[in-house]
Amino acid sequence: MTTLRLLPLAVAALLAGCVASPALDIPAPVQESAVAAETPTPTPTPESVDPPAFDRTQYSIDSADSIWVVANKTRRLSPKKFVPSDLVTMDVPHTYDPTLRREAAKSYRTMLRAATRDGKSLVVQSAYRSYATQVSVYNGWVNQLGRHGADLQSARPGYSEHQIGLSVDIAAASRACTIQACFSDTPEGKWLTKHAWEYGWVLRYPKGKTNITGYKYEPWHWRYVGIPLAEQIHLIGAKETLEEFWELPAAPDYL
Ligand code: DAL
Ligand code: ZN
Repeated sequence: MTTLRLLPLAVAALLAGCVASPALDIPAPVQESAVAAETPTPTPTPESVDPPAFDRTQYSIDSADSIWVVANKTRRLSPKKFVPSDLVTMDVPHTYDPTLRREAAKSYRTMLRAATRDGKSLVVQSAYRSYATQVSVYNGWVNQLGRHGADLQSARPGYSEHQIGLSVDIAAASRACTIQACFSDTPEGKWLTKHAWEYGWVLRYPKGKTNITGYKYEPWHWRYVGIPLAEQIHLIGAKETLEEFWELPAAPDYL
């Protein structure tokens, strides 16, 4: 660049009758043959970068410690009293213990920040529940609704995706429609329906899928599966269940 900038000066000096000074650093004339022999530098062509293809074999859907594990009424957790090894308790608005597995907790906090920026107030209603906690939650529902009613909305101990530390029941700070189907009509419910997949969450118990999942519609119950899988399910539609996606048998009832 320096040489090119100085060339007009040198030419001007020559035209003015002066001898070109070496201080001007004019390069010696280059032989024609040398120019021809030079290999031209290839110009890089911009390439479009495709997102990595979705790999259906990346994680297990059977191991309780896999982010893709599918637990339902016919797929009990193994071991039955499974406890995740990387639970963390989040410093976020909550009603009950806001504990999740590390990766899910990180994603939840990111999602919470985004929701807050959009003026939505998310509250963790319930997150990780140990086997023992699920015993008392389930028994509470049985006392209130009887066994049949309880089974439509609460997993028996050893069968709950709350026990794997990847599920969270989300409420609104307004408390409107907490743990009710109308949660889907609240600003927070609508925001989650639109955006939760972007952070790796899927609606685990969609509307009209009781015959597959075994549970009534739960617009508050979000399951972390990671962004690639959540994106695949989002592309199919919000009503896609994990059972359908993985082509697993329907699990309307216990075996
Ligand atoms: N409410 C869901 C089904 C659970 O208890 O895990
Ligand atoms: Zn739940």
